Parts: sequence; C-alpha cells; structure tokens
Amino acid sequence: MKKLYIETVGCQMNLLDSELVVAALRKEGYELTGSTDEADTVLFNTCSVRQHAEDKIYSALGRLKDAKRAMPDKVIGVMGCMAQKDQRLIFRRAPYVDIVVGPGQLHQVPQLVREARSKPGGQRLEVSLGRTDGKADAIKRSHESFDPLRDPTMRPTPFQAYVRIQIGCDKFCTYCIVPSVRGPEQSRPPSQVLAEARQLAGEGCKEVVLLGQTVNSWRHTEDGRAWRFSDLLYALHEVDGIERIKFVTSYPKDMTDDVLRAVRDLPKACKYLHVPAQHGSDEQLRRMKRGYTIADYREMHDRAKRWMPDVAITSDFIVGFSGETEGDFQQTMDLVRECRFKNSFIFKYSERPGTKAADRLPDDVPDEVKRRRNNELLALQNQISEEDNQRFLGARVGVLVEGPSKAAVKAGRVGGEGPLQLTGRTMCDRIVVFEGNPRQIGQTLPVAVYDANAHTLFGEVVTEHAGPELFQLAGSA
Ligand code: 5AD
Ligand code: SF4
Repeated sequence: MKKLYIETVGCQMNLLDSELVVAALRKEGYELTGSTDEADTVLFNTCSVRQHAEDKIYSALGRLKDAKRAMPDKVIGVMGCMAQKDQRLIFRRAPYVDIVVGPGQLHQVPQLVREARSKPGGQRLEVSLGRTDGKADAIKRSHESFDPLRDPTMRPTPFQAYVRIQIGCDKFCTYCIVPSVRGPEQSRPPSQVLAEARQLAGEGCKEVVLLGQTVNSWRHTEDGRAWRFSDLLYALHEVDGIERIKFVTSYPKDMTDDVLRAVRDLPKACKYLHVPAQHGSDEQLRRMKRGYTIADYREMHDRAKRWMPDVAITSDFIVGFSGETEGDFQQTMDLVRECRFKNSFIFKYSERPGTKAADRLPDDVPDEVKRRRNNELLALQNQISEEDNQRFLGARVGVLVEGPSKAAVKAGRVGGEGPLQLTGRTMCDRIVVFEGNPRQIGQTLPVAVYDANAHTLFGEVVTEHAGPELFQLAGSA
C-alpha cells in the first residue's frame, strides 16, 4: 500500500475536491496517513482568498524540504486555488515540489503523481486558462473539474455529502480572487446533480449540501427546459432517503421569491441561509462592486424573516477594506445589530494581487485598525449569537446526529459501545451537544435543550415516543 498525506485549507469546495482526489488515488492503491514522514505522496489543497491561508501553505512546504532530501521519491504536490494563482512561483519558492495542479485540473492528479514517481526530477504544472487567455468556451472548458468519483470515507460524516452544482464565479467583487482562480461561472446540469443525489441516498446519505460560490444564482437549460435554482430544490426534494437539503453560499441579489418559497415550503429544506452582506455601508458595497445596496439587503433579509420567522441567516463581513471610515464600519455594526445574524464570519481585508481592488483601490486601513474593528464586530456578533441561542432553552429540536463531539474525540472516547458525548445539527444549522451512544449516530433524534452558549446548544435526548405534533415542532427548529 502506498501512503497519501493530504492537507486541505479553505472552503467546502476544497473539502469536496480533496474527497474526490482521495477517491481517485485510492483506486491507485493509496491509503491515507496522518504523517508527512511516512507518506509516499504529500498533497496540499490550497486557498487564495486571504494572504494568511497562502502563508500557512508556504511554511508547511518549507518544513518538507528536509523530508524530501531524506526521501527523494516522495511526491509533493500543491493543488487548488493557490496552485492556479501562483503557478511556477511555487516551484521557485519550493524547488522540491513535483506537481502544481489548479482546481480545474484535479482529474489529472493520479496521472501526474504516477509520472512524478516513475520519472523523478521533472516538475509538472497543470492549470486552467486565465480569464483573458482565450475564447470564452476554451476558458470554460479548461476549468471543468471532475465529480464522478466519491469516497464516503472522506465525507464530513457518512450521512452528509457535498454536491457541487456550480463552479466558478462571474460577479467579480473587487476584493475577490475567486473569479480568476476558479474561472467562469458554470452550472452543472440538473440530470447530473439529481443522479448524484440519488446515488448518495443509495449509499445511506441523509443530508446533501449543495455547493456554489453564488449557489442560488444557479440556472440551467437542459433538453429545452429552463431550470431555476428553486426548481432544482423541488426536484431534489423528491429523492427518497434524502432528509435534509442545505445550500451555500447565497448571493443576496438572487434570493428571489421562488427560492425563499421553496425553502419555506419544502420540509426537507434546511431553514438556514448563508447570505454574506460583506458590509453595512453603501459606499463600501459600491467600492466592493457587490451589486446591491444596504436597502436591497435589508429588504431581502426582512422578506426571508417575514416568510420564515425561524429561519437562521448567517453572513460574512470584511472589515478594513479600502477607504473604510469609522462611520462606514459603524454601519456594519448597525446592520449586525439589526439583522441579528445567527452567526457571522468576519475577515480583515487582505489585498489579493490580480484583483480590481489591488489594481485600483489602496489598502489604506492600518492593520491595527482592521484588528480592532474585527474584534469589535466579533464581540457584538457573539453577544447576539448567545442571546439568540438562549431562546432555545427548554425547547425540543430535531438533531441529525453527526458523531462524537469534539471533546469526546479529544478525550479519545470514540470507537467503544458505551455512552458518549455526541454532536449534531438542527434543521437551522445549530450545533447541539448531548449524551448518547454510538448507535444513535446517523439518526435524527428529538433533543431537549437545557443550556446554550454563542456557538452550541446543550441538550438531552427525549426518550419517550414523540407524537407527530412534537416532531413537527422539532423539524421547524
Ligand atoms: N480579504 C478578506 N476577506 C475576503 N473574502 C473574500 N476575499 C477576501 C479578501 N481579499 C471573504 C468574503 C467571502 C469569504 C469567503 O471570504 O467575506 O465571503
Ligand atoms: Fe468572490 Fe464576490 Fe464571487 Fe463571492 S460573489 S466568490 S465574494 S467574486
């Protein structure tokens, strides 16, 4: 058996890409190892969204220098967004790297690894075309990635799977590197998405998480029928065995009535929307070229809450983007106070070479100001998340049990038969921790909540037989 070490940073797209690469390499006789020392092949699946993510990978590569000297036929590969962005620069900074593969070329990984092993010495680069390096069709084709092979052991859990429905992005927000590294927006045909969901359900998967950079912008015409994203949700809802459907990440402008109606009306649709606002000030949104105003965002948010009072909405925010004044920042604080997001991911602006902002807008907010604003916004969001979770005290929620809690894993209390601290999620994506036993993993159970903090609900499984009314209550939480 050959041994593969793989490290993944970044978003769910990258996790799914790694799953697929592992599946392909298993077919070649690889098994996973947690140690770079004993690995025959070491792969990094990388992210370019912020400088910090890149720095982490370059230092991890630096640490491999001696290992490669000691074991020269160890194949070292860099895949993903940083591979597409930096290309040959990676060979210059780490000359012992054997292969560099962009996210649109991952189907080539098994062959590239094979070649590197059989003919050591040469460096192999496989990336997609840049956004202006050819005809539109050729650029699109060069970004087509692969999804056919799945490896259940690489999933978040055996009951949950990511399903890619869209690749790339055409929105070109000025701060964002994604449109240049992941290429043009392309939607996957509904027949393929549905076939994959059926296959996953047949393997025991209960929850599918649809992935796209602007997932709710998905649309596709197949066999003369024009599908909207909401049509896809209705069709997926018919797949037997699938109990929950989630989707990330949504684009505010495309949160149309038909999408909200589908989420509201389909019992399997999670009442959870990740719709990044990015900022609370119109001037900043304009500089970011987000394509909407704060009034538009508020309208979308209010509509979602009006139609589904229990819907959980989450957001991303960037602090310290070009030209952000204290007044602008306070408008982000106001938006968070008003929308009371379930949670927010907050990022300090990180200038990315090759973006419009890097070309035209100065990175002029000092780092200590970015840090202070980040902390201030995070403190506000945490306070809101905690207050919001307190509402669940005494309530019963339906939890899809994912596995042992982090604490149980840390304490090494997994794999046995006895009682165990478990974790799972509600229909509105809230994390719930409770005492259970390994047999309950993969089931959907009613749990009574007795404690809550900003990030977690703590509960107890309700053992009496629940009537239909109770389950409805549990389902809507
Ligand atoms: N700097 C900081 N944060 C960024 N994001 C995207 N690009 C940048 C950048 N250059 C954030 C956005 C996006 C999330 C995935 O990362 O908030 O929604
Ligand atoms: Fe980046 Fe904007 Fe596309 Fe999101 S919508 S991936 S932030 S360009």
